[in-house]
Amino acid sequence: MLFTHILALGILCIIALVVALGLTRRRVYPLPLPPGPRPLPILGNALQLDPKRPWLTYTAWGKTYGNIIHSRMLGVDLIIINSETIARDLLDKRSANYSTRPVLRTAELAGLGFNTASLPYGETLRQHRKIFHQVLRAEVSVSYHEMYSRHANELVIKLLGAPSDLLLQQHIRGYTASLIVAVTYGHLADGHEDSFLTRAHELLSITKHIVPPERAALFTAFPFLEKLPSWCFGGAFALMGRCRELCQQLLNEPFDEVKAQVANGTASHSLVADFLSQAHDDADEETMKAVALMAYIGGIDTTVSVLHTFVLAMVLYPDIQARARAEIDQVVRHDKMPCLDDRASLPYLDAILREVLRWYPLAPLGFPHATSNDDVYDGYFIPKGTIVMVNQWALSRDEDVFPDASRFDPSRHLTVDGKLKDLFVNHFAFGRGRRICPGRWFAENSLWTAASAIIAVLRIEHAKDSNGDRIEVKPEFRTGIVVHPELFHCSFESVNTAREGHLRAMMNSK
Ligand code: HEM
Ligand SMILES: *[C@@H]1O[C@H](CO)[C@@H](O)[C@H](O)[C@H]1NC(C)=O
Ligand SMILES: *[C@@H]1O[C@H](CO)[C@@H](O)[C@H](O)[C@H]1NC(C)=O
Repeated sequence: MLFTHILALGILCIIALVVALGLTRRRVYPLPLPPGPRPLPILGNALQLDPKRPWLTYTAWGKTYGNIIHSRMLGVDLIIINSETIARDLLDKRSANYSTRPVLRTAELAGLGFNTASLPYGETLRQHRKIFHQVLRAEVSVSYHEMYSRHANELVIKLLGAPSDLLLQQHIRGYTASLIVAVTYGHLADGHEDSFLTRAHELLSITKHIVPPERAALFTAFPFLEKLPSWCFGGAFALMGRCRELCQQLLNEPFDEVKAQVANGTASHSLVADFLSQAHDDADEETMKAVALMAYIGGIDTTVSVLHTFVLAMVLYPDIQARARAEIDQVVRHDKMPCLDDRASLPYLDAILREVLRWYPLAPLGFPHATSNDDVYDGYFIPKGTIVMVNQWALSRDEDVFPDASRFDPSRHLTVDGKLKDLFVNHFAFGRGRRICPGRWFAENSLWTAASAIIAVLRIEHAKDSNGDRIEVKPEFRTGIVVHPELFHCSFESVNTAREGHLRAMMNSK
């Protein structure tokens, strides 16, 4: 352990030097920078951070320095925003200046240049977001309701039959992955879906290792830095080559298959098929390939984490679970499954999902934005090229907005007469301004459908050990690019045989 830390530090110093030589020509600013801790030479504030949970350090700094903090890491300026109002003022209201990303040169080398999330603000990004809007905006994403339901029903049956509750995460991952492929590409030929999923999985695990050094330098803070030594000293170029190859296959193969299906009239409803059947040019087609692969890359870990956290909360708060089930049973016939049409009549379930996103933000520092121009806010100077991060953790722990913030309590999101509050409709979990998550409707629909199906049929409880004693569960989370709950034990029991029978009949008739 110590050894890896020393290695990591050594590498940090090298990167620091490179970055420092390139970037730290000191500028004289006309106004003061926002307050923050005094940086050390070169390393800046890097060593003052909690290496696993830097958001905790930033939240604590907020108490000393206020809600907008300046910090310097390895020669790069960072602004951390600890308040909803400031996040809105800068990232929404001044979005023209706050919507680019830190530059990642190695991403290109690894064939990851198609990654929407790391594109600088500009024409290519606008093109990507236009296609995302065309194929996944709110109205269109609802049109996949049957697919969400079919996959969610399968998930329920699998959970009922799970021989070990530790398969929970695997089942959730299976649900999310196969749903994403179905919505993106429709029916691929036998074996093609599996091979897509295997390779996409490999791609994601490589990208978690090839963290571009510039980025690592910028986000010293981030836990994935621990992976740096293996990257630096072992087969970096081989990994990059494999990464490029995977990207090419994943971008082209399923897309070309759907294209052939569209040509011979056998394509089913999917993002790619619908795109291809509308007027478009060749450039759009390349963009659509990227958008399609981004649905997997952007959707998989995020959705899995949220669903897993949802089940965790349901184990820990049985009363909340029971109230959600009662709400469903009151609105939906006892032998029918809830569907997206019922969503508006089930505010408590939506409140639960909002609370899952708030309770433990899966990206506690959001995704970094960068400024494309010098700016002035509240008398402070914010230089061009500053990395701007919204500390979702601090927002979610704001006791003025969320009293007793660590408690899981969906009623925070309801008015006194039980309606969903208007506030936080685009809650901070999905980001901000011109970079707000373009997959949010798809994400919400698939989360809602899975959560409602689970609650409608299954009671989730603590598991029992071989002595019949209940196995305690603690809300503990593992950090990474996306935060996930630690594996925990729980059990599933059917509480509605009519719905269960209905699901089994549907599965058999498939
Ligand atoms: C619960 C699920 C999800 C959560 C919590 C989530 C959250 C986020 C966040 C916080 C960002 C950064 C926004 C910003 O920079 O301000 C983001 C960006 C993005 N998300 Fe999601 N996301 C989810 C699911 C999805 C899905 C299902 C897709 C695709 C179908 C997707 C595609 C993307 C893309 C392409 C970006 C980059 C946008 C850009 O840089 O302009 N996400 N997401
Ligand atoms: C249509 O094209 C797909 C993709 O190439 C192929 O798998 C399928 O067999 C074709 N179907 C017909 C009826 O030609
Ligand atoms: C960026 O901010 C500066 C200073 O507030 C402003 O003058 C400029 O118009 C902004 N640029 C854009 C593109 O909004």
